[in-house]
Amino acid sequence: MKKDLLKLLDLSRQEITEILDAAADLKQKQKAGIAHPYLAGKTLAMIFVKNSTRTRVSFETGIYQLGGHGIYLSGKDSQIGRGEPPQDTARVLSRYCDGIMIRTYDQEEVETLAKYADVPVINGLTDLAHPCQVLADLFTIRERKGALEGLKICYIGDGNNMANSIIVGGLLCGMHVSVATPPQYRPDETVLDFAFAHSCPETLFTLTDNPASAARGADVIFTDVWASMGQEDEAHARRAAFEGFQVNASIMALANPGAMVQHCLPAHRGEEITADVFEAHSDEIFDEAENRLHVQKAILYLLMK
Ligand code: CP
Ligand code: NVA
Repeated sequence: MKKDLLKLLDLSRQEITEILDAAADLKQKQKAGIAHPYLAGKTLAMIFVKNSTRTRVSFETGIYQLGGHGIYLSGKDSQIGRGEPPQDTARVLSRYCDGIMIRTYDQEEVETLAKYADVPVINGLTDLAHPCQVLADLFTIRERKGALEGLKICYIGDGNNMANSIIVGGLLCGMHVSVATPPQYRPDETVLDFAFAHSCPETLFTLTDNPASAARGADVIFTDVWASMGQEDEAHARRAAFEGFQVNASIMALANPGAMVQHCLPAHRGEEITADVFEAHSDEIFDEAENRLHVQKAILYLLMK
């Protein structure tokens, strides 16, 4: 049966570890200049209904380095933007390509695409989830800290696609997860149901509207933009609602010594993160961006080989 990557809730801890291990192997091969054309002759269709820099370039470079070919389909220029249903797009692309990556708004659209496609479908971001990003984040944390189990990750800001995926990915990998959002911007209910059901002494989940209490004793501090793609009109109101939910020096002082900072980028300095914290942790943040490439290659390899 074909496998898709639609959201982290669909994965087991073992499957996440398999992806991270494959990424480590591919990264090591790439750094050593060892060719790894495991997907020679294969084609990946890449549908972008929303903007992207990292996701597009890491997937397109990744499929190329694996010996395959990526086709960029923008929502605007393809028939997708003129309303062709995902059921039909899925069946057409399955006849030409060996995999489909899609970035769009509605998670349902991705789930429908996967239901009708005969080839693996990869979620490159929806309003609900950003699984490929969080797999790269977990990889970066494991690379720098040696292991994930027992670490405490803290997310401060909007309960958005990043928050949803960090909560699920962190708990599945044996981490404690603390989240601070304003009450009206909490993570998705299905994710919270999973998190509270999963919460135990080994993988403790806490949700608060107090960023300081979430940050206390954290090994990794995450944040993301206050207004995601599609919420541009709300940016002004959100700026007011998220005041106090900024990752700054006072928040970092509450975290454990040597705590990492992760940001999926793009970042808005002076909003969700201060310029000084961003620059002090830029090595970790740009490693995280680089690791999109290695982790995306691992996903492509495992799903399309
Ligand atoms: N982090 C991330 O997904 O970046 P892009 O929006 O540039 O793809
Ligand atoms: N939450 C952000 C992530 C961008 C990579 C958005 O959806 O726009």
